[in-house]
Amino acid sequence: MRKKIVAGNWKMNKTLPEGIQLAEEVNEKVKALQVPEVKVILGTPFIHLAEVSKIVDPAIISISAQNCATEASGAYTGEISAAMVASTGSTHVILGHSERRSYYGETDAILVKKVAQALANQLEIIFCIGEVLAEREAGKHFEVVKSQLENGLFQLSPEEFSHIILAYEPVWAIGTGKTATSAQAQEMHAFIRKVLTEKYGKEIAENTSILYGGSCNAKNADELFSNPDVDGGLIGGASLKAEDFSLIIAARA
Ligand code: G3H
Repeated sequence: MRKKIVAGNWKMNKTLPEGIQLAEEVNEKVKALQVPEVKVILGTPFIHLAEVSKIVDPAIISISAQNCATEASGAYTGEISAAMVASTGSTHVILGHSERRSYYGETDAILVKKVAQALANQLEIIFCIGEVLAEREAGKHFEVVKSQLENGLFQLSPEEFSHIILAYEPVWAIGTGKTATSAQAQEMHAFIRKVLTEKYGKEIAENTSILYGGSCNAKNADELFSNPDVDGGLIGGASLKAEDFSLIIAARA
């Protein structure tokens, strides 16, 4: 059975002391919720990873980076390798976020290299896919998402693919307050599962968690998560307040 997951993506928010405080608060809230059926992940900036890994109870919260380098090591000033991420106690990495694709030019080819680095260092990957508004308006959203899967992930063997968590994030819904409707989310998630079935077979498709991301909050989480193919959320803005984030976790339980 696939996992229910609520992952926070702090993006470029919180100084180190602020991040430590938030992680402590989230840890307490999740402990109090007692929801072992929900996997909770915190995607923090690189500099927080080691500290936050020490603070949270690994039995209830996993830690994720938001990116990693294409190369293993060497003269790549400013880059952070997957091995470095893993050495902080982090178990996950977010790859292919639309902000990285659009602001930092991350292509499918770059993502293929990052995915390989992450897997070589035993990191589980939250891989983001999703269309921009013009693509949806042109009716190309299914085609775009399928191509992101094919060109970023379908080089993986079935065993490798079992380390992938997918996050469908319609770009027009990210940080805009404009959530996909529950029906739009379910329609795309079911489509993604169909594409996975065609490539990897029913068992792997059924075992892959597909998260929704894009203005998911404490008010709309219940409805979004009630869909059979929406296994949880990748939460941006609403993960920056422990109270809001814990309400979303409770909605997934
Ligand atoms: O990674 C998270 C997504 O980009 C969603 O961000 O919840 O602020 O819209 P948001």
